[in-house]
Amino acid sequence: MKFLVMNGVNLNLTGKREKGVYGTATLEDINAKIAAYCKAQGDEADFYQSNIEGELVNKLHEAFLNKSYDAILFNAGAFTHYSYALRDAIAAIDIPVAEVHISNVHAREEFRHNSVLSEVCAGVVCGFGSGSYIAAIVGLKDKLAK
Ligand code: DQA
Repeated sequence: MKFLVMNGVNLNLTGKREKGVYGTATLEDINAKIAAYCKAQGDEADFYQSNIEGELVNKLHEAFLNKSYDAILFNAGAFTHYSYALRDAIAAIDIPVAEVHISNVHAREEFRHNSVLSEVCAGVVCGFGSGSYIAAIVGLKDKLAK
């Protein structure tokens, strides 16, 4: 199976910003862990990060039009809470998307409790640090096997 792992706004600073919330593993560390997990399962993963909403929309379109991935893991960062453009892009594509968060958004500020993406995602994982991405892979694989 081939996964696209997408990270949105500010996620490039993971491991360097708000370490008490997001931990000390960098995005590169997290991606290396995901790549190793996928390899061990006989799967593949590509990685993409952008701070720009339109670039993330373009990447989702590209994945859809090129039929290049079986499933997508997406941590949209703060875009999660207000980007109708990303929501519409996820709804437009026929690739299952898992919404992922490093932190437990439900144990944080109220504005983080709402996601405009969840409704159009295959599932949501949050609160397990880099383990959220791994759990999302497990969930997506299980869903695709059915
Ligand atoms: C986040 C949670 C969001 O609320 C926040 O804006 C982020 C990161 C997470 O991974 O925990 O930037 O998506």
